[in-house]
Amino acid sequence: MNIQSLRGMPDFFPDDLKKWHLLESTLSQIFNAYGIAEIRTPLLESTELFSRSVGNSSDIVNKELYSFLDKNQKSISLRPEGSAGVIRAIIQKKQEHEKHKLWYQGPMFRYERPQKGRFRQFHQVGVEYLGYEEGLSEFELISMLININKQLGIDQYSLKINHLGDVEAKKNFCTALKIFLEPHLSSLHEKDIARLESNPLRVLDSKEESTQLLLKDAPKFEDFISEKSKLFLKDLAQHYSDKCDITIDSNLVRGLDYYTGLVFEMVSEELGAQDAFLGGGRYDHLTNELGGKPMPAVGFAVGLERIIELMNVESSNVPAKVALIIVDEQDNQKTYKISHALREVNLKITLDAFLSNGSLKSQLRRANKSHCNFAIIVGSDERVAGKFTWKDLGEQGDQKLVSLEELLEVYKNL
Ligand code: HAM
Repeated sequence: MNIQSLRGMPDFFPDDLKKWHLLESTLSQIFNAYGIAEIRTPLLESTELFSRSVGNSSDIVNKELYSFLDKNQKSISLRPEGSAGVIRAIIQKKQEHEKHKLWYQGPMFRYERPQKGRFRQFHQVGVEYLGYEEGLSEFELISMLININKQLGIDQYSLKINHLGDVEAKKNFCTALKIFLEPHLSSLHEKDIARLESNPLRVLDSKEESTQLLLKDAPKFEDFISEKSKLFLKDLAQHYSDKCDITIDSNLVRGLDYYTGLVFEMVSEELGAQDAFLGGGRYDHLTNELGGKPMPAVGFAVGLERIIELMNVESSNVPAKVALIIVDEQDNQKTYKISHALREVNLKITLDAFLSNGSLKSQLRRANKSHCNFAIIVGSDERVAGKFTWKDLGEQGDQKLVSLEELLEVYKNL
């Protein structure tokens, strides 16, 4: 039996990747414009990094982590997200006292039930602003997100925001919620009873109707956060209300334990059930949790498989593609010489040297199929004349016989 890929871990073929490259280059161009530098961290980290950051009570660590014992019996895990690794790297380099604007990209791994828009290996591009207190950095990040959507031609989306207060507010609210829900445990779904034990905040975003009904009379999270936090949230919502559909959603708590302060998600109905295409927030206490010095931090990550579904732009400057067609085997040696010379004068053009012989007709068919704009042909006529045919593969199909020098000149100026 053939070996299949693992469930939820798709392959990406060249045609799929065209859109990916456009997305990735647009994002890196935007990050460059905001003065954000790239960081790369390993795919594998110690399991403890994720249990101490994303949190033992989160589904991501509790149920979805790909963990293994390495040959030294140490528990290691494939990263389920990027922020923890970035913070670990900064602590390791003792750079918590500096300010950093960083971005990263790459595959993340979560053992979730695969479905449309949900994979076990998926890709994120993330941004982390480190060393920045609550304030301007949140505004800059939200501006950037709106800009990203604009550049990618995405206009059907909503931005949901909420404020989780500080550690104290979170703790007090959780205690109050527990006291309120305790007499109603029999009407709570078992999933929510477990959440109430491990991370009461997550009860707020329960999908169970009975839980949501109970929550109507429960203590409200907004009553536990400071006036300053409430004002900050309102201010942010007001500031961007004419730029996008922005709403305060007091049930937005996010699935990772490290957040305090602002949290946000962008959702689009076009995506179906898995509607969040990016998420983020502030996590000022993560360096402390991981044994480093205090460092405020805020960031977000975009889910590439999801945002790509919404992208509505075409690449404007696709380079020309030229087929190098050698009809007879006896001319094969010319391939190396010509292709080397052509690439030397213009590396921006895609030169698809076919590296095989065959009738001119079949090779031209192949050139059209692989979307070549021009063809350089060496057949018996060209051999006799010591020249090359330069053929436009567009509608007109113009062609001419040229010397090597003329060919290089045409190619250089494509
Ligand atoms: P997250 O909300 O867990 O946040 O993930 C960010 C985005 O990754 C989601 O909005 C979604 O688009 C995508 N995503 C998550 N899981 C899957 C999956 N199984 N399949 C496809 N896409 C998925 C974080 O990961 C935080 N580290 C974000 C952050 C950065 N917060 C502060 N800094």
